[in-house]
Amino acid sequence: MERKKVTIAELQQKKEQGQKITMMTAYDYPTAHLVDQAGIDTILVGDSLGMVMLGYDSTVPVTMDEMIHHCKAVRRGVKSGFIVGDMPFMSYQINVEQAVENAGRFMKEAGCDSVKLEGGSEMAPVVKAIVTAGVPVCGHIGLTPQTATMLSGFKVQAKDAESARQLVKSAKDLQEAGAFMMVMECIPDLVAKKITNELKIPTIGIGAGKNCDGQVLVYHDLVGLFERFTPKFVKQYVNLAPQVKEALVQYRTEVEEGTFPGPGHTFSMKEDEAEKI
Ligand code: KIV
Repeated sequence: MERKKVTIAELQQKKEQGQKITMMTAYDYPTAHLVDQAGIDTILVGDSLGMVMLGYDSTVPVTMDEMIHHCKAVRRGVKSGFIVGDMPFMSYQINVEQAVENAGRFMKEAGCDSVKLEGGSEMAPVVKAIVTAGVPVCGHIGLTPQTATMLSGFKVQAKDAESARQLVKSAKDLQEAGAFMMVMECIPDLVAKKITNELKIPTIGIGAGKNCDGQVLVYHDLVGLFERFTPKFVKQYVNLAPQVKEALVQYRTEVEEGTFPGPGHTFSMKEDEAEKI
């Protein structure tokens, strides 16, 4: 049976009924199709695509046009999942007008269902303006990769009581500003639990323990297609890279040896016709 389109109300209901929410990244049509077919609730076109698809060293260089290009492909592959488009660095920080305009591009040009942006309380006015313009916003607190340099690297956040209190405040301020969901990255499980208990909106954890309302992972980490590094919080469910490499080496060898293409992969014509060519 075909799934119905996932809605914000359904995600909210899942939190209220204690059912876990699933989120997975996808950056292209075939992956988005597989993720959607697997029954995942929400599909994040994360700016992590800058690292796993485009080979940048961080998410910082990712542009609006790159995000829109990938979001459009994902849109074409998804029937039911709720699509979250990730606003890239400097697409929402300069001023509120530009933030609203760029958020609008994710909806109008790319067909996303919502946007995500990184930052704490300081981003509340931006969230409010985008939501007021009619674009649902998912917050992203804790480790915020776009500003990892300011955080002195990719480190666990909110490890002491004071910074944990600040994070709880950020989560509440973003909720108050109208965010419909909150991604929490790389924070202690007890802090994630407190925020999840205190927020009305669903929380989605990545490196935030099991007490969040849902979980997200980067697809390429989960299937073993990103070999540069693997964060502690990643669970690799299948290791595809060695299998893909083996297939490619086999193909190369067969072409070099002349055993591919064989008769089963070849079109034929009658010999007398061939003679007239
Ligand atoms: O860009 C991304 O994939 C993300 C997730 C890690 C939450 O923001």
